Amino acid sequence: SKEFTVVIIGSGGVGKTSLTVQLTEGTFTEDYNPTIEDMYQKLLNVNNEKILLNLLDTAGQEMYSVIRDQHWRSGNGFIVVYDVTSKQSFDDVEKFVDLVKKNKEADEFPIVVCGNKCDLTSDRAVPEKVAKDWCIKNSCLFYETSAKKKINVEEAFVGLVKLIIED
Ligand code: GTP
Repeated sequence: SKEFTVVIIGSGGVGKTSLTVQLTEGTFTEDYNPTIEDMYQKLLNVNNEKILLNLLDTAGQEMYSVIRDQHWRSGNGFIVVYDVTSKQSFDDVEKFVDLVKKNKEADEFPIVVCGNKCDLTSDRAVPEKVAKDWCIKNSCLFYETSAKKKINVEEAFVGLVKLIIED
């Protein structure tokens, strides 16, 4: 079996912890506790292969806190999360993706962008097409997700694992 490390980054409150907990524990809570840093593990079956994922849930409160963390350098792939109800959090995606590419010294790296909270349809601020087009241009895989309604959560992580395997 293979083992990979995935780092979850994005602005504060977009749902990084919620996506990670939905994947690993199958639960969701409305409570908001800002993360400093947490590690999770999940066994996934991808292409009939057992994959052990180490998931590093980072702090979103401070834009570049991720850069201080030496663990994130071990990331084989990244999940960049924004909140579809927050234009600012989508604008931040570009900074996070640039940060990954700069630190990995690569123009392309396994990155999945998640537009989370897609269940909040009446509060949407970022059109799906705008995000999708940006991701195509910037070589990232894209999913709209809901940690709350369990939409595309496993799909996003499996999609990232497939990118890592192909890398
Ligand atoms: P930081 O640790 O501060 O960076 O936050 P985070 O990105 O880990 O966000 P977190 O998972 O703590 O979620 C923030 C808030 O958004 C919580 O109140 C969650 O319940 C809520 N939330 C997360 N995901 C979803 C979702 O898919 N839909 C809805 N409606 N709410 C969500």
